[in-house]
Amino acid sequence: MHLDNWGLKAKKLGYRSRAVFKLEEIVEKTKALKGCKNVLDIGAAPGGWSQFIRHRIKEANVYALDILDIDPIDGVKFHKIRIEDIDSTKEIFELKGTFHLVISDLAPNLTGISVIDESNIYELNDITLNVAVEYLDKSKGVFIIKTFQNSMLKKLKTKMKGLFDDVQIFKPAASKKQSAEIYLYGAFKE
Ligand SMILES: C[S@@+](CC[C@H](N)C(=O)[O-])C[C@H]1O[C@@H](n2cnc3c(N)ncnc32)[C@H](O)[C@@H]1O
Repeated sequence: MHLDNWGLKAKKLGYRSRAVFKLEEIVEKTKALKGCKNVLDIGAAPGGWSQFIRHRIKEANVYALDILDIDPIDGVKFHKIRIEDIDSTKEIFELKGTFHLVISDLAPNLTGISVIDESNIYELNDITLNVAVEYLDKSKGVFIIKTFQNSMLKKLKTKMKGLFDDVQIFKPAASKKQSAEIYLYGAFKE
């Protein structure tokens, strides 16, 4: 398998994915890790983002979920569930309203038919956004979500602006230029 510079760097540092460098750029620019304790990683497999959070904040309690399994990570409580079913996981449900950071790198399976893909992406993003708002600490919680530049992006951004005090958009250097992926950041402020 061909690894680009980000892939090589991830391998060298023991990270499971090059996606960690996208998250790293966003949290550094926004100081999203400040005072961070409970973290929810949605669509976590193979586990790069969860590893990164644990490397950066030793005392972080990371809860991760995915429809795929991951190899265990010290300090990360993993649940093999769909985001749609998060409320049925008692261990996470009981922490509603206490998360400092909710991160989502979710991506639905693509069909190649843009009208269907755009609607599926929006639907999954919308479910994730609603979960984030319910699970975050409303005084200082931060939400970071991967989405895609398409006809539904404006709608998602507008909804986030109605829910969070600060909304920003990022295209990190580690995200391939030819990829439509983009990251939205939303934060509650006291
Ligand atoms: C790009 S990967 C995440 C990479 C991860 N951030 C990392 O750094 O290792 C996206 C993940 O979203 C998961 N996913 C897609 N739809 C999902 C759903 N409805 N519920 C939970 N996970 C889902 C996929 O199984 C996939 O593992």
